[in-house]
Amino acid sequence: MSKTIGILTAGGDSPGLNAAIRGVGKTAIGVYDMRVVGFRDGFRGLMENRAVDLDKSKLSGILTIGGTILGTSRDKPHRMLVGGQTLDMTDVIVENYQNHQLDALVCLGGGGTQKNAFRLHKKGLNVVTLPKTIDNDVFGTDMTFGFDTALGIATEAIDRLHSTAHSHHRIIVVEVMGHNTGWLALGAGLAGGADVILIPEIPYDMDAVAEAIRQRHRRGASFSIVAVSEGAVPRDRAEALAAAEAKVAAAKKARKDGSGSEKAIKSAKAEVDELRGHVGRATLALSEELESRTTLESRLTILGHLQRGGTPSAADRLLATRLGAATVEVIESGQFGVMVASRGEEAVPVPLKDIVGKRKTVPPDHPWIKAARSIGVALGD
Ligand code: F6P
Repeated sequence: MSKTIGILTAGGDSPGLNAAIRGVGKTAIGVYDMRVVGFRDGFRGLMENRAVDLDKSKLSGILTIGGTILGTSRDKPHRMLVGGQTLDMTDVIVENYQNHQLDALVCLGGGGTQKNAFRLHKKGLNVVTLPKTIDNDVFGTDMTFGFDTALGIATEAIDRLHSTAHSHHRIIVVEVMGHNTGWLALGAGLAGGADVILIPEIPYDMDAVAEAIRQRHRRGASFSIVAVSEGAVPRDRAEALAAAEAKVAAAKKARKDGSGSEKAIKSAKAEVDELRGHVGRATLALSEELESRTTLESRLTILGHLQRGGTPSAADRLLATRLGAATVEVIESGQFGVMVASRGEEAVPVPLKDIVGKRKTVPPDHPWIKAARSIGVALGD
């Protein structure tokens, strides 16, 4: 046996995780005769020493399965709930990594996981990460795996909503996931033929949205589909929200410098939550407001976790497999503290220090935005 590598999946699950685990594992075992150890439920499993040997048999038959065979959690190494207390468990994780005699640790996750993995890298662990999330918001990569599958699910849902909206002459507001970025709502809205698409990157004006629907009605369209990202915000709250988010960042920085407190972060975060409104409830309020302003009946559909479930699309299987296989080459070449990103058809190791804390948002001149405007989709501005 040459090397031993550990692997874990962290953050929200997403289709394609098993394809990536398989891509890493089969390459590691088949090409380099490595041993592969999986850790259950993200960083928590590494902290609690819950390991499983990922031999060939465990990697077989998982390509098409949704979720993650390893389980996942949103636990952070430096702030873990243990026995009712939030503790920094980084040292325990480092010790377990050493006890397992790992030569590298592969962490599959979104923006938060990249951050946590980078922290472990700074503690001396040979970390390599992969970008997964249905939100497609990881900085430094063209695409994250999970996104294409969720895009397909949300698009099909919007397709299906058309016939019922049309039959009842209704507005149907459909809430799409995506956290604080609009990739999923914009992509699915455009592909599914939504009439209005609202995304966090473009704060919306309620008057403009209502007017777009009224105009459609005047032109003879008896229904409207509004695809709204869970993170979309009305224009009158956008400025206050940006200020509150800046407060959170400042409070976090102060904690890092030793001058801040946990309480200050909590109160800044509460302000942000208040302004964002509860996911789901905010979209219900939008649907009700549109009904009252247009006098057309409006119904709400929240796609929620349906978008994360089930078998990965072919594109996600391909992306996860090629990035997974490339990860082992990166380990073999001794490059650590990197995320294996997709750039065109290439898999490129990018330093974690260049991407952590950044989010890939939809640029205002993105081709999908331009196309939406060209074909008359209202974006709420
Ligand atoms: O990051 C993926 C994601 O599905 C987001 O789109 C969503 O905001 C969030 O996770 C939901 O998280 P949870 O599954 O913890 O409720």
